[in-house]
Amino acid sequence: MKLIIIGPQGSGKGTQAKLISEKYNIPHISTGDIFRENIREQTDLGKTAQEYINRGELVPDNITNALVHSRLSTQDCFKGFILDGFPRNIEQAKALERLVNVDKVIYLELAENVAVSRISSRRVCESCGMVYSALHDDVTKGCTKCGGKLMIRDDDTPDAVRNRLALFRQQTKPLVEYYAQKNILINVNGDGSIERVFVDIIHGLS
Ligand code: AP5
Repeated sequence: MKLIIIGPQGSGKGTQAKLISEKYNIPHISTGDIFRENIREQTDLGKTAQEYINRGELVPDNITNALVHSRLSTQDCFKGFILDGFPRNIEQAKALERLVNVDKVIYLELAENVAVSRISSRRVCESCGMVYSALHDDVTKGCTKCGGKLMIRDDDTPDAVRNRLALFRQQTKPLVEYYAQKNILINVNGDGSIERVFVDIIHGLS
């Protein structure tokens, strides 16, 4: 299973990709998570990516494509993977095609006002990166997985969120048509409970 999940910010890509990864026993590859891990460790990649991410801009294609190339070349990806946050534009999609053939692309549809409300309620564990929502989780006690402190992401500021959603409309949304023409697109309504959305994804994949 070589899968991609795309959708606007806050549509639940990370949340669903984690569940898909567990169900099919394939690695969850989130370019955003890899960048954030590098930022936490202050690697050269992290320092470069940080400025773009905090402004809500895309990290340049040459950096992101090289990162994905290197990750997909590791053995655990040979039997399948779920890519979350990549590709984000047609150039990245073409770079991916030069590496592998993808089986299915899941598109999580969500209205922007719902996306904004979810993002403003998101809390992330500063130690392990586990994602919570102040709307439906108890976020007062810290991370239930590792006990770490829950934080608001640096790029979840109103200005950065506006930029990220505009970039989604301009650069990422065209991928929906691109993959529909290749007959590998699965449309899923992202505006349901986490469990409901997951059931719809599995149904679409089977
Ligand atoms: P990335 O980390 O990929 O962020 P994003 O695309 O902005 O997506 P989000 O993480 O905001 O949302 P999500 O859809 O994963 O939602 P989540 O599951 O967390 O990228 C960050 C940055 O890195 C980019 O802006 C860019 O700068 C850079 N970058 C990354 N990839 C790149 C690339 N390919 N090229 C260039 N630059 C790149 O859910 C959101 C909240 O909603 C959570 O609180 C969750 O608990 C809650 N929630 C989820 N599902 C539901 C539901 N069904 N009902 C209610 N609440 C829900």
